[in-house]
Amino acid sequence: MKEVKSGRNTGGGWNPKTSRRDFLKLMVAVGTVFTFAPFVDWGKFLPNPQTNVPAKAKAELPDGSQANVNTFPVNSSQVVIYPKTNDEVLNQEAFRTWQFIRLPEELGGTKNDVSAFRMYSSVCLHLWCLWKYFPDPGRKRGECPCHGSMYDPMNGKAFAGPASLQAPPTNVLPELDLEADEKGDIWIKPANWSVNGNGIVGYGRFLNQ
Ligand code: FES
Repeated sequence: MKEVKSGRNTGGGWNPKTSRRDFLKLMVAVGTVFTFAPFVDWGKFLPNPQTNVPAKAKAELPDGSQANVNTFPVNSSQVVIYPKTNDEVLNQEAFRTWQFIRLPEELGGTKNDVSAFRMYSSVCLHLWCLWKYFPDPGRKRGECPCHGSMYDPMNGKAFAGPASLQAPPTNVLPELDLEADEKGDIWIKPANWSVNGNGIVGYGRFLNQ
C-alpha cells in the first residue's frame, strides 16, 4: 500500500506531529514578514480609503449631526467616518475611522475656530490597532491599547511606544484638514493621500514643521 507522508488530514486521521510542524513553518514565515516590514514601502500597497473625494465633506458625528465649533466640548473626541459611503459595511472599515478631537484648553481648545480641532486616522502606525484620545487629567493624548504607543494631540506624532521608534514618515498619523462655515459647522477638506499631503492611512505622514 502506498505510504501517505503528508501530516494533513487525508481521510486517514489528523497527524498532530506534522500539523505542529506546519504551524511552526507558518510562524517562521510571519516572523520573516515582520523582520523586513520596516524596509518595505508599504505605502504603495495600503488600502487607503479610496480615493477621490472632490468636494468637502461634513464632519459628521456618530449621532448624525455635524460637528460645530460652538457646541463641540473642549478636550473631547468622537469617531468620524471618512470618506463616508452609502454602504454601512464599508463605513465600518478601520481605514475610514478617524479621531475627531477638540484640544484641551492649554493646547488652544477654547479658541472659537478650527485651530482648536484635529482629525487623525484612528489606525495605529505600529500594527494597525485602533487608538483613541484620552481626555483624563495627566493623559490628554492618544493611546493605543495594543502595545502602548502614544500620540501627541497637537500634531499626531507618536512620542512613546513602538510607533515612536519608527522612522519618518511612519511615526506621524495622517491628518485631515478642516474648515468651519459662518454657522460654525465643521467641514473636512478634500484629502491628498500622500506622505507629503494628508498622509497614507496605516502608514504615516511627513510632519511639516
Ligand atoms: S498596534 Fe498600536 S502600539 Fe502596536
